Amino acid sequence: MAQTVLMLNRGFSTSPSAMTAIKHVTVIGGGIMGSGIAQVAAQSGYQVTLAEINEGALQTAKVSIETNLKRVAKKVHKESLEEAEKFVTNALSNLRPTMNVMEAVQSTDLVIEAVLENINVKHKLFSSIDPIAPEHAIFASNTSALSIQEIASVTKRKDRFGGLHFFNPVPVMKLLEVIRTPETSDETYGKMMAWGNTIGKTTITCKDTPGFVVNRLLGPYLNEALKMLERGVATAQDIDTAMKLGAGYPMGPFELMDYIGLDTHKIVADGWHRKFPNSHTFRPSEILETMVAEGKLGVKSGEGFYKYDKSSKL
Ligand code: 3HC
Repeated sequence: MAQTVLMLNRGFSTSPSAMTAIKHVTVIGGGIMGSGIAQVAAQSGYQVTLAEINEGALQTAKVSIETNLKRVAKKVHKESLEEAEKFVTNALSNLRPTMNVMEAVQSTDLVIEAVLENINVKHKLFSSIDPIAPEHAIFASNTSALSIQEIASVTKRKDRFGGLHFFNPVPVMKLLEVIRTPETSDETYGKMMAWGNTIGKTTITCKDTPGFVVNRLLGPYLNEALKMLERGVATAQDIDTAMKLGAGYPMGPFELMDYIGLDTHKIVADGWHRKFPNSHTFRPSEILETMVAEGKLGVKSGEGFYKYDKSSKL
């Protein structure tokens, strides 16, 4: 936990302009990932516009950002309530939520897309903002498993396009995967790496391959856990206990799927299956299909492999 505090402190105290020319960041998509990215950028001193076309989702994002900023502030400024309040006020003053995506990209240095994991949706978005955003602006996708090069293909700025892949919960997880395609320029790559460090993340470089590093390992692991449950090897709870106490993971695979959202995991798992149709590892799970069809989506719906009350926080 001490490491987390250090990371958050570093993110807040580093001057963005000293490290990189990126001053203004536009995050498109106000879901769990988008709101987390916007929060971390705003608390690190960047001017941030958070664009979300769904009014309800934008309201939810605002509430969750404020709640999570308070959690961070409590940790960073344990000794001083006044400093903690200032931290939250400063971060919120750096953040501008909007429903107007086109206006949000007109004056910006970095656009981070965190919308639905659907290539058509991403293509539609990037092809519409490419002619509007400033020439120098870097575009990045937070996709979990789609190809960055394929997403970038609809734009005329393939050299200023890369992947910035964050992890949930964004304010807590220290890693940022920086993905470069064969067309990403050295300058763009350098700016993405430097920017990641100014928001307090540890960056790793990754080629544009399915699932990058973390999800390429995590996907088969979660799928195997589902199959283990289907084979009746052990209960979900015992498998979770086994991985927490036997492998030192902070959450077991079923707790993690509940946390990520079973619908989100299913979208990613289905994508894997389409990519590798003959692989046993990515064969769709009946349990997952049934639970998603029944609306058991994990923490966000109140029930997944476990039950949650309304106070459970994402
Ligand atoms: N914002 C700010 N702070 C938060 C937070 C959030 N959203 N969520 C948790 N925290 C803080 C809490 O306030 C708490 O702080 P404290 O120690 O000072 O009290 C601390 O983090 C720990 O939280 P909790 O006490 O609530 O619970 P845990 O100790 O169980 O930690 C967890 C929660 C950090 C989520 C931990 O269980 C964990 O690391 N789980 C694994 C998460 C993981 O694997 N993420 C990757 C998912 S895959 C992914 O994101 C890829 C993408 O493509 C989908």
